[in-house]
Amino acid sequence: MTRQKFIDQLLKGSRRKPGTRGEAFAPANIALCKYWGKRDAELNLPANSSLSISLGKLGTRTVVKFAKNADRIFLNGKPAPKAFTRRVLAYLDLFRKKGQFFEVRTKNNIPTATGLASSASGFAALIQALNELMGWKLRPRELSMLARLGSGSAARSLYDGFAVWHAGQRPDGMDSYAEAVDSAWPALRIGILEVSAARKEPGSTEGMNRTRETSELYQAWPAQAACDFDELRAAIAAKDFPMFGKTAENNAMAMHATMLAAWPPLCYWKPRSLALMQKVWEVREYGFELYFTMDAGPNLKLLFLENDARTVRKLFPKVQIVTPFPKA
Ligand code: PMV
Repeated sequence: MTRQKFIDQLLKGSRRKPGTRGEAFAPANIALCKYWGKRDAELNLPANSSLSISLGKLGTRTVVKFAKNADRIFLNGKPAPKAFTRRVLAYLDLFRKKGQFFEVRTKNNIPTATGLASSASGFAALIQALNELMGWKLRPRELSMLARLGSGSAARSLYDGFAVWHAGQRPDGMDSYAEAVDSAWPALRIGILEVSAARKEPGSTEGMNRTRETSELYQAWPAQAACDFDELRAAIAAKDFPMFGKTAENNAMAMHATMLAAWPPLCYWKPRSLALMQKVWEVREYGFELYFTMDAGPNLKLLFLENDARTVRKLFPKVQIVTPFPKA
């Protein structure tokens, strides 16, 4: 099935009474059980279900309006760089009628220096703003399926707190959406340790494809991911932090192992990434409950509980601590 057919099917029953403007905020999210590998590249369907935590007030705010003669794309108050503009326009092309143009103004409050991917919050904010502008009145579940077409992990950025993205089984992808996990964990903290703010190379799609095609270890990935997904859900329900941290860290290491066994090898780590991992393992030897996760990049995201924040700051003076469940 093509993207266009998928979108037509999804929008079939929806209202289409355009307004004059749409605005939305979406949080960034960090996967604890990673999405790694596609079962369908055209519809961006994942090979495995994933689970994430959103970063509260850190994310993307986007305003969309109709424009007169040409598209205009702004990022953080300035005309957006070429690669960013190209990606947004390719996405808008999926939804525009002939002769329709858009003005998109998008702002990230994720400090760019953290090197955190903003495509997840970016596409999640854009599709919600479009929903308002176009008057579709779609529900979050449907919007997450549309966000997925921009960037897989964007499917999970429709929600605060924990979110799960179901891999689904249907070839048309109508069962591959994200939804919120009804479970808050106010004591949970995430510590961002920046190693490099440079763009990840190669990008996640190429990284996934290469791993899937050439890594023998990838064979084991879907089963491990399914197991980790269930364990994380159970750990969240029971607020079992050691089980939560261990499962998330082990899931990230297993994903990186599949990449290391790809050809040519994929290693997103820098020497400093490894030094930081070793520091975490060392303090854990002494009984300190600190874990980490890493995506397709060199930065670490520490996982710990509120009571340990002071010690984490002492151990890692440059850490940026995020509260994923901020008080309203
Ligand atoms: O959403 P994408 O296509 O950028 O892929 C995200 C891949 C990982 O960040 C490594 C894992 C994840 O689930 O977010």
